[in-house]
Amino acid sequence: MPDDVKIFLPGPTQVSPEVLAQLARPMIGHRTAEFWALMESLSPRLQQLLNTEYPVYAYSGTGTQAMEAALTNAGGPHLLILSNGLFGERWMQAAKGLGLKATLLDFGWGKAYSVVEIQRVLEQDGFSSVVMVHGETSTGMLNSIEPVSELVALLPDVLLIVDAVSTLGGVPLYMDRWGIDVLAGGAQKCLALPPGVEPVGVSQRALERARNSKRKGYASDFNLWQEFWLKHEVVTTPAIPQLFAMDFQVGRILEQETLAARWERHARMAQRAAEWAQARGWAPVGPEDMRLPSCTCLRPPNERDTAMTVAALRVQGYLIDAGQGPLKGRVLRLGHMGDWTLPDLEGLLATLDQVLK
Ligand SMILES: Cc1ncc(COP(=O)(O)O)c(C=O)c1O
Repeated sequence: MPDDVKIFLPGPTQVSPEVLAQLARPMIGHRTAEFWALMESLSPRLQQLLNTEYPVYAYSGTGTQAMEAALTNAGGPHLLILSNGLFGERWMQAAKGLGLKATLLDFGWGKAYSVVEIQRVLEQDGFSSVVMVHGETSTGMLNSIEPVSELVALLPDVLLIVDAVSTLGGVPLYMDRWGIDVLAGGAQKCLALPPGVEPVGVSQRALERARNSKRKGYASDFNLWQEFWLKHEVVTTPAIPQLFAMDFQVGRILEQETLAARWERHARMAQRAAEWAQARGWAPVGPEDMRLPSCTCLRPPNERDTAMTVAALRVQGYLIDAGQGPLKGRVLRLGHMGDWTLPDLEGLLATLDQVLK
């Protein structure tokens, strides 16, 4: 296998040498002026990234841990979880594991959310929060936030929690305009950062809800995050190298590429992957108008075991994925996200053509 494997996984994705160099900077203390200068640079950049006036915290942990923080702080007493793939199901597992009362509204893998059904269920029961997945990475589907947010806006005591782990930085996302109360983003996908620090946006309503939560622990307590922030401190020792990398990379995204250009680049890569698939009889999972700009999930035209294709491609220096859960071995997932460009994707598709011959 070549040394320089190109990572087109649905996350983590390739990280540039410039970003990796940030991880090797000398360590600093988290109670120092240098650290606070880093946070003062990063924080407004994260607000721009999420399109929010609310604070955005850089949470040291995985995407799932950021989701759990959202659930414990702002979820209860009764969550409605929307699912059409693995990550919707994961939110439900997380809620159960945390001992929270949650109802799963399961549309089935690869199926669109039904707004009518969501409205019917919301009218039926007194829910405190609705949880949805923006980019369902397991099926390569983009769930629109606005229709859900319009329903939630009709119910003054219901909060909206959004899993934007596979969309933040690569797909249009407006935390305030869309009335999102907690937005959990990811580092290792469209931001092309190493995993380990996740941007989490917290609305005023979420902060108020968190005050009455009894299960939020210490390190994940939104109120403590805010209290410490106001004192120019952080609650626990954060993943400082990743924060250096995040500040550098988000700065580069906003100031050099621009967010709009990055969204456009992701959309073009998804479009190209769909064209490639159509010409070869591979069928994207889910409806055409729901393609996820950061990840394409394709069923083969025949009964091929896609794990074999993934293995063959790996020998050629490309890492892609053969699916998760019920789709394992039955699909190919191409993660065209982060810093990858259209010419890079062409390289992957040409190699895939050679392997499939
Ligand atoms: C949509 C979505 N949500 C949540 C996660 C979980 O993130 P992590 O693996 O960092 O816990 C992922 C990771 O693939 C994801 O794609």
